[in-house]
Amino acid sequence: MLTSVPGTNDVFAQSKEYPFREPVFRYITQTAEQVLRSSGAQMIHTPIFEYAEVLQKGVGVTSDIVVKKEMYTFEDRGGRVLGLRPEPTASIVRAYNQHGMKVWPQPVRLFTWGPIFRAERHQKGRYKQFHQVDYEALGSADPLVDAEAIALMVQIYRALGLKGLEVKLGSVGDPEDRVRYNDYLRGLFRPYAQGLSEDSRVRLESNPMRILDSKSETDQRIVAEVGVRPMLEFLGLEARSFHESVAGYLEKLGVPFTVDPSIVRGLDYYVRTAWEVHHSRIGAKSALGGGGRYDGLSEMLGGPRVPGVGWGIGIERVAIALEQEGVEIPADPAPDLYLVPLDEAAKLEALQIAQRLRPAFRVEMAYAPKSPRKGLEEALKREARFVGLLGEAERARGVVTLKHLETGDQREVSWEALGEALGPVPGVRL
Ligand code: HAM
Repeated sequence: MLTSVPGTNDVFAQSKEYPFREPVFRYITQTAEQVLRSSGAQMIHTPIFEYAEVLQKGVGVTSDIVVKKEMYTFEDRGGRVLGLRPEPTASIVRAYNQHGMKVWPQPVRLFTWGPIFRAERHQKGRYKQFHQVDYEALGSADPLVDAEAIALMVQIYRALGLKGLEVKLGSVGDPEDRVRYNDYLRGLFRPYAQGLSEDSRVRLESNPMRILDSKSETDQRIVAEVGVRPMLEFLGLEARSFHESVAGYLEKLGVPFTVDPSIVRGLDYYVRTAWEVHHSRIGAKSALGGGGRYDGLSEMLGGPRVPGVGWGIGIERVAIALEQEGVEIPADPAPDLYLVPLDEAAKLEALQIAQRLRPAFRVEMAYAPKSPRKGLEEALKREARFVGLLGEAERARGVVTLKHLETGDQREVSWEALGEALGPVPGVRL
């Protein structure tokens, strides 16, 4: 029997692993969609594969995704190198430029959700295919837009019912601030180069900031030993005042956060604002989400200057947090009616009735003839409101024997009158 690739997962209602239950996914994506639509953000779907160049230039040559070859790439028949998206931001910026959204009222605020691919070593909370909700606000350099992005993200977590959250806000400064900080870090780490992991030795020259959040234990020991000054101390005047504005707006909006002076994000495109959301019970290494500003990304993709800010929420990580906190996920509604054919000939009738009543009512049916007792049992198991029995006697009179399962009331109802007998369904028009 063939199986799925380890690190990828089937998402369905009865999955034994909680993060991959479809109702949990739906709860997360629908809640996020509701919050984001209420803010006027529009949904966008971009392709899950792009020219590898878009994706590589997006995340940057010193990101883990490129350094550790985490991007799945393949050649198409024309010999073009394509990649599965390791994050959606570059694709959304590409779409913004490609469709001339620069002439729309700014900022253009877009969101999406869907699968993301990273060839990482899989473990709980870290998968090769995972899912994100993603939000991007493009075309504004106003720190208010950063604060709104963070506030919306927190509003989604809260609407989901999560409590143990920590928003860690930092700044990675402007590119020139980072040049100074990286020079400082090189000076600090060079004497320890031999002790660093192979990845960090490469990063020592290309992007030493990434050594700070290396997952290697020996790297972490060295980081602790050398006593690194945080990035926040290296901010220039503009980046500093921008950071203070974002923090000030968040305070006024009542969004709780802590300033984390040493926040480092895994992607190269960030400037100024950078943040992560952690959960008390999941541990510091698995953020529930993260985001930041990326004013230079559009230019990296060959477009005009388009300032932007956005975030990604890891759907599986949020699902794990919901389980940890015991948040109850709304159950799928039970059927209004469960139809039971009592003989072969009644099977098609049952389907005809079901199709007439759907979608105003939730109607399920038995697909093989049953005895009335067995049919009733099945209806009870599904927690249906009514059971409808269809046999030869009913067929002769064009009726269904309809029984209300809670009250036990039973009567014959003609096909035409069934909708009325089932009663009004809140919010659904017949
Ligand atoms: P990221 O921090 O790389 O940011 O990913 C966002 C979230 O995706 C993480 O906080 C985590 O919850 C989840 N995640 C990442 N990798 C995995 C994995 N292998 N398995 C399960 N979940 C994972 C971005 O992707 C940026 N595009 C966010 C952004 C949007 N920044 C600006 N705009």
